[in-house]
Amino acid sequence: MRKKIVAGNWKMNLDYAAGISVFSEIVNMVKDEKNGSQDVVICAPFIHLNSLSKLGGETVKIGAQNCHQNESGAFTGEISAGMIKSVGCEYVLIGHSERRQYFAETDALLAEKTVIALKNNLIPIFCIGETLDERNNGSYFEVIKSQLENGLFSLDAESFSKIIVAYEPVWAIGTGLTASSDQAQEVHAFIRKEISEKYSMAIADATSILYGGSCNPKNADELFAQKDIDGGLIGGASLKSRDFMDIIKAFNS
Ligand code: PGA
Repeated sequence: MRKKIVAGNWKMNLDYAAGISVFSEIVNMVKDEKNGSQDVVICAPFIHLNSLSKLGGETVKIGAQNCHQNESGAFTGEISAGMIKSVGCEYVLIGHSERRQYFAETDALLAEKTVIALKNNLIPIFCIGETLDERNNGSYFEVIKSQLENGLFSLDAESFSKIIVAYEPVWAIGTGLTASSDQAQEVHAFIRKEISEKYSMAIADATSILYGGSCNPKNADELFAQKDIDGGLIGGASLKSRDFMDIIKAFNS
């Protein structure tokens, strides 16, 4: 059985005190209300990671939102995968569309970041997804295929089996426009087919593929009911403990 995961992505929100406060609420709610084997992760700004990983313990796991592609060195202002690991993180987002768009991160760079994250025993949550133009002109399968091929498919099978994929249509991120459950399932099934053709059916079956893009407590049940959707990457709704917990509970058995 592949792992079910609900991961929050706080982006550049919540100062230190607010982050501790929202996170403490999430930990308490997860302890009281989670009733299933889904993993809960918060991907927070760097300044929070050390404190949150201590507060979260086994209840809520912590991830960073980015890492540098080099192990260490003269890269002023950057943070390495080893540093992230050293404060107790287990996950790192790689290739979020905001990194691709605003920081010009290419698939080739993201492939390097993925290798360094794995080398430091972080689990990459590798984000892919098409823009509105690519959705409308029907090229979205090609776009996703090329993001997979150029970002991930140079990994060997053992390394690939540690990856979590997040499908986040760019037009659905922060816009309130969610992909319908049929649209999301169609792409998730396509991603799984590509993984199976590149690696094996067993690896494809074991890969968790998360959906992200305006996921909220109202649409989570239907999205998570799709057979190839194994969880969510939640932006705006992860900043509110109650909404985030209600999304997590879409997996309660
Ligand atoms: P959203 O963001 O839930 O606010 O649309 C998702 C994401 O960017 O990971």
